[in-house]
Amino acid sequence: TGKVRIRHLQEMKERGKKWTMLTSYDMYTATIFEEAGIPVLLVGDSAANNVFGYDSSLPVTVDELLPLVRAVTRSTKRSLVIADLPFGSYQGSPEECFHTAARFMKEGGAHAVKLEGGREMLPQVKKLASSGIPVMAHIGFTPQAEHQLGGYRVQGKEDEGRQLVELAKAFETAGAFALLIEMVPAAVGAAITKAVNIPTVGIGAGNGCDAQVLVWQDMAGLRQGSLPRFVKQYANMNALLHKAAADFAAEVEGGTFPGNEHSF
Ligand code: KIV
Ligand code: NA
Repeated sequence: TGKVRIRHLQEMKERGKKWTMLTSYDMYTATIFEEAGIPVLLVGDSAANNVFGYDSSLPVTVDELLPLVRAVTRSTKRSLVIADLPFGSYQGSPEECFHTAARFMKEGGAHAVKLEGGREMLPQVKKLASSGIPVMAHIGFTPQAEHQLGGYRVQGKEDEGRQLVELAKAFETAGAFALLIEMVPAAVGAAITKAVNIPTVGIGAGNGCDAQVLVWQDMAGLRQGSLPRFVKQYANMNALLHKAAADFAAEVEGGTFPGNEHSF
């Protein structure tokens, strides 16, 4: 099978076939997820939290994310790789947005980009779409606007739900190839998905979206502590890695590693 293209995602929507996206920031996860049949990989600005150790996505820079995008595109053959535009690198103007997106395409080898926002981002989306850069618009809860939105809160309740449907349609008209919908009532996720012809990718947006995304460290149980309601852990990698490291330390301290079979 060949490269995943945005037209394939469009065809899956038309056929009612659901698909998945996972974040990836390095070679091993990229190759494993591609082999596991995840068609779309997102080099999320969530690398801020999950790679660089910041406590929000705001501080991460283009220069920090670019090498991660390069690692993922270098390691995959078929996956569609989307680069997340970090806070402060595209909101200023459509030209700034184009410049940043072009760096992710040229230097990072990305196949598409994602940006967050509302109607004020329509000019940005138009600029990218008309310049040959596929763009996914991220609506609902948008983590880069955490301080404006008053923290991690479900968006699109009551009347706001209808406004989100209108926003989704506006992004479709502006040329977005897909929508990411974060933390909205399931009924709103489903209503948006029905209202637009482009694919929707949900996270905390219910079962009615065309696709689902999770941060891989959440999906694999690497992250500890209290988790958002929308996370399902499909493994317990934190315990697995902890045990491997502890076993290594215990064997070295106990004098049993390296054994003869590991020695020259
Ligand atoms: O950066 C990220 O991981 C995201 C999530 C919504 C998947 O944007
Ligand atoms: Na993001």
